[in-house]
Amino acid sequence: MRDLEGKTAIVTGGGLGIGSAGAKELASQGAAVTIMDIDESAAESTSLEIRSAGGKTIVVIGDASSSSDCDRCVSDAVSAFGGLDILFNNVGIQPVASYANVENTTEEMWDRILSVNLKSRFLMAKYSIPEMRKRGGGVIISTASVQGQQSAHLVPAYAATKGGDLSLTRQLALDYAEENIRVLSVCPGGVDTPLWRDSVLSSGKNVEDAIVESGITHPIGRLGAPEDIAKVVAFLASDKASFMTGTFVNVDGGIMAKGSWA
Ligand SMILES: NC(=O)c1ccc[n+]([C@@H]2O[C@H](COP(=O)([O-])OP(=O)(O)OC[C@H]3O[C@@H](n4cnc5c(N)ncnc54)[C@H](O)[C@@H]3O)[C@@H](O)[C@H]2O)c1
Repeated sequence: MRDLEGKTAIVTGGGLGIGSAGAKELASQGAAVTIMDIDESAAESTSLEIRSAGGKTIVVIGDASSSSDCDRCVSDAVSAFGGLDILFNNVGIQPVASYANVENTTEEMWDRILSVNLKSRFLMAKYSIPEMRKRGGGVIISTASVQGQQSAHLVPAYAATKGGDLSLTRQLALDYAEENIRVLSVCPGGVDTPLWRDSVLSSGKNVEDAIVESGITHPIGRLGAPEDIAKVVAFLASDKASFMTGTFVNVDGGIMAKGSWA
C-alpha cells in the first residue's frame, strides 16, 4: 500500500522544478494529481511523465495569483477526482529584474511577486479548505525558503513573501487544526531548478561552475535536487506526519545550521 493511495492533490507551479518533482512524487505514492501552471507545455510534460508511469493526473492552465483561476483549479480537481486532500502551494517567482533595494523596486514588481508567491497561498487555501472539510481533513504544504528565516541582499519582495509563507502556515494551522487540516512549510536551500539557473545566468556566471560553488556553501557539499524537496513533501502529506502541523522543515543541506563564522 502506497502512502497516498486514494488521495487527491493539487500542485501549483507543477510544470517545472520543485513543483514538477512534487507532482511526480505525490503521484508515485498513489495520489491523483492536478497540475496547475501558467506554462502549458511544462505542465503537459510533467503530466505525461506521470501518466507514463501509471499515475492519474490532469492539467489546469492558469495564473495562481488569479482568484478565478484558483477557484477553477479546485473545481476541476474535484470534478476529475471526486475531492481534495492535499494542496502543495508551491508556485513562486524571483524575476531576475527584481534584484534591487526597495527604492529601486517598482510597485508593479512588488505587487507581482507578492501576488504570485503569497496571495496564491491565500487563494488556493481559501478554495481548497471547503473541499478538504468534506473529506474530513487535509494537508496544505507551502514551499517557503531558507530566505524566510535569513536574508540575502536585494530581494525585498521575495524575502517578504517567504516570511509571509511561514506566518500564514502557523495561522492556518491554528485556525484549522480542529478540522483535521494540517498546514506545513518546507524551506529549501539552493535547488537546481530553472528558477535557480535563471538567477545564475543573470549574474553572468557559468551554470556548471555555479552548481559546484553554490554546492560547497551547503554543509552537505552539494546543491539540492528538486526530488530532495519532493520526498519530504510527500512524507509531510502522508499520515506518517499526522502529529505535525504549524511548523516548517528545512530541506537545505545544512545551510540553516551554519553560523557566519563557519
Ligand atoms: N530553486 C531554489 O533554489 C528554491 C529555493 C528555495 C525556495 N524555492 C521556492 O520553490 C518554489 C518553486 O521554485 P522552483 O525553483 O521550482 O521554480 P521554477 O521557476 O523552476 O518553477 C516554477 C513553476 O511555476 C510556474 N509558474 C510561474 N508563475 C506562475 C503563475 N503565476 N501561476 C502558475 N504557475 C506559475 C512556472 O511556469 C514553473 O513551472 C518557489 O516558491 C520558490 O520560491 C526555490
